[in-house]
Formats: sequence, structure tokens, C-alpha cells
Amino acid sequence: MSTEKPWTGRFTEPTDAFVEAFTASVEFDQRMYKHDIAGSRAHARMLAHVAVLTSDERDVILGGLDEIETEIDKGDFQWSISLEDVHMNIEKRLTDKIGDAGKKLHTGRSRNDQVATDVRLYLRDEIDTIAAELKRLQCNIIDLAEREFDTIMPGFTHLQTAQPITFGHHMLAWNEMLQRDGERLLDCRKRANSLPLGSAALAGTTYPIDREFTAKELGFERICQNSLDAVSDRDFVIEFTSFASLLMMHMSRFSEELVLWTSSQFDFIDLGDSFCTGSSIMPQKKNPDVPELVRGKTGRVYGHLISLLTLMKAQPLAYNKDNQEDKEPLFDTIDTIKGSLKVYADMMAQVDVKKESMREAAFRGFSTATDLADYLVRNGVAFRDAHEVVGKAVRLGVESKRDLSEMTLEELQGFSDAIKADVFDVLTLEGSVAARNHLGGTAPEQVKQAIKRARELL
Ligand code: ARG
Repeated sequence: MSTEKPWTGRFTEPTDAFVEAFTASVEFDQRMYKHDIAGSRAHARMLAHVAVLTSDERDVILGGLDEIETEIDKGDFQWSISLEDVHMNIEKRLTDKIGDAGKKLHTGRSRNDQVATDVRLYLRDEIDTIAAELKRLQCNIIDLAEREFDTIMPGFTHLQTAQPITFGHHMLAWNEMLQRDGERLLDCRKRANSLPLGSAALAGTTYPIDREFTAKELGFERICQNSLDAVSDRDFVIEFTSFASLLMMHMSRFSEELVLWTSSQFDFIDLGDSFCTGSSIMPQKKNPDVPELVRGKTGRVYGHLISLLTLMKAQPLAYNKDNQEDKEPLFDTIDTIKGSLKVYADMMAQVDVKKESMREAAFRGFSTATDLADYLVRNGVAFRDAHEVVGKAVRLGVESKRDLSEMTLEELQGFSDAIKADVFDVLTLEGSVAARNHLGGTAPEQVKQAIKRARELL
């Protein structure tokens, strides 16, 4: 294949070999080849529609593009660094294959609006894949919440046992976060789904183009309304990466809990063997590598967000070559979150919950102390006085290594005569969670209803 650059007319010297490699993007932007070809098909059809191309020329171009797509699919395509990027590699191959008609494809178009279109098309497809994977993860979390809707565990603040909660309620907290992430993703899709083609290099084009036609061909909901903005801004990439950063932040928090919970100190859950690894030296080890890696990968996604913001921060209008640097952070963000979501969705389907151990931990941590205070308030004690009374009872519990529910009625009455025999109803773990029976509360009854709502939203 000939690899002569399209701008040789203006130049007297060839590009320096190192500069050629330094400025090329084909090694990474070739992953958008399907979207580049889709954009070219739509552009060729539009040009024929407005009679800039004949229908014969259009058909020859479309035939050539089909063949090129097959060559690339099969791995038979020769990519050339001297042709810089995916766009020029494909265009050059088209001309080599079909001759003069191929030279007309770039009429009324520039690589500037072409690349902006490719990135939007590529991202739109990836968003759809990611949205489906996120839903699969949510489904598996909700299923787990349903299986464990009334399983008791300690709830924490400051990582200290605070109050008993249900495991189902805890899982649904993660689902809430992921639900918002999904909403942000779809919102980002709306703004990404806008057509730059027609903006040409920066100012538009002198040909009688029909942008509505191209938009319809490519399934774009909107048309970018200003040619300078369309070829230059990458805010939609930044928006996607900020969605991804929030998602990774949530998954990193979730990972932290899974890592803690699988430790023998907590012993709340078991992750399937296929999601863990052993140690080459310590035979007893089963390491939670998957959540640890997801937690670790969060950093690179945040890094990409900062890279992209910095990439755009001082660029004058319109297109600048700086923009070529948008792709690697975007692609790596996509790969990282797709991988993390996939492994998480698979892993959450196999979590084994150790009910006894969680119950024991909730029991040990005086988690019903607030319930005792609330009981005293109901019996006429001011909340601050009740807080003090319960504090003293907890101190006795610590000293004598007993839970509040293990004390005698006489002992408890020694702290306040507002305490009656029915106090033991509120000191049980089940009584404590069942009492928080309002929208957003941890009662098993509420968990069931929340699961229903969560499934409807999905
Ligand atoms: N490879 C380039 C990019 O990714 C394509 C656009 C090049 N445009 C230009 N005027 N040099 O941004």
C-alpha cells in the first residue's frame, strides 16, 4: 500500500522519522475503526443525497469501506505509522482499492470533525455496554439483599459497632450509589449523542451539506450547533470520566468493606475461591485480590480525569493537536471500569454470608444501647439523662463482659427506675432492627419494600 501523506503538495522535506512516530495516534486510535467507517458511510450517503457525489461514486465507496472493515476484522489490514491515524489509514486504503471515487470521500469534511464524531460514536457504544454491565451488578446485589433481607449485622460509624442493621439494608445502600452512577451515565450519554460532522476543520464547509441527514444515519439525537465548539471541546469525555471516577470511588469503598469482611478478624463473608488467590509461602491464606485490585485501579481513573481536565484547560479555539491526547485516558477508563464491573457482577453472585458470625459481632458491641435510651425516653426520661444512664450500664457491661440483654432486671433498674420488665423486648437485635420501620430504615419489612422499588427502577 502506498503510504504517501495527503499534504505532500505543500511540503518540500519529508517528516522526520521520530516526529512521525511521535505525532502518530494510529497505534491507539485504530480501536475506533468501526466507528470511523460508520461515519464515512454516513458522510458518503449524505454527499450523494445532496448530489455532491453521484450514486455510483457513493456505491463504490460503500463497497470499498465494507471490504476494508472485513480486512481489519480479520487482522489483514496493514496499519502504517506514516499515515498517522485511523482516519488517514482507512482513507488511503480506500483510494488504493477503488481509485478516484475514494479521493472524493473527504469532500466537505476534515479530520477534525471526523475524529470528534468517531469518539462520540465509540463512547456511545461503550456507554451502552457499561450501562448493561452496571445493571447486571445491581441485579446481583439486589438478589443478595433479598436472600439476606433479615440477616442481622452490626452497623458501623467510625468503624465502631453502632447499631444493629440488616445485611439486606446494607447491600441496598450500595445499590443506591450504583443507581445514581447509572443515572449519571445516561445523562452523559445524552450530551455525547450529538453530531459534529459538518463542522469540517473549524468553520463549516462551502458544500450544500445536509447535517440532519447525517445525524439520522448515525442515530445522533442532536447536531452540534457551533462548528468551533464541535471540533474542539471534549467535555463529554471529561463528563464520562467523572462518572467513571464516582463509580470507582463507590466500588473502592465497597471493596474496602469486602476486604475487611473476609478477614478472620471480621469473618462476615466468604468470597468464592475463584475470586481469590493463595499465598506462595503461607498455606492458610486466601486473599481478596479482586476487591483489592478494584480499589487500587480507582487511582488510575482519577488520574485520567485530571489528565483530561488539564488537557483542555488552556486550549484556545478551535481544534489543537493536544486533543489527540484525549484517547488513551478515555480508552483506559473504559477498559478499567468494564473489567471492574464484570468481575464485581460475577463475584457478588457468589458471596457466602456468615450469619452467625455477623450476629455475634452485633451482639458483642452493645449495638442496642440506643434502643435502651429510646426506651427510657418513651418512659418519661429526657434524652440526655437517658444517654447518661445507658452509658453507665454499658460501662458495667464492659467491666463484667456482658451485653445489656444479659444483665438482670434488678441490675438495670439500679441505673433507672423507669426500666421495667418489658425492657428486654427492645434489647434484642431483632427487636432493634424491626423497630426502625419507616421508609429508608433497616427493618426487614422495609428491606422487602426497598427491593421492590429497586427492581422497578432497574
Ligand atoms: N489523530 C487526530 C486526533 O486524534 C485526528 C485529527 C487530526 N487533525 C489535525 N488537524 N491534525 O485528534
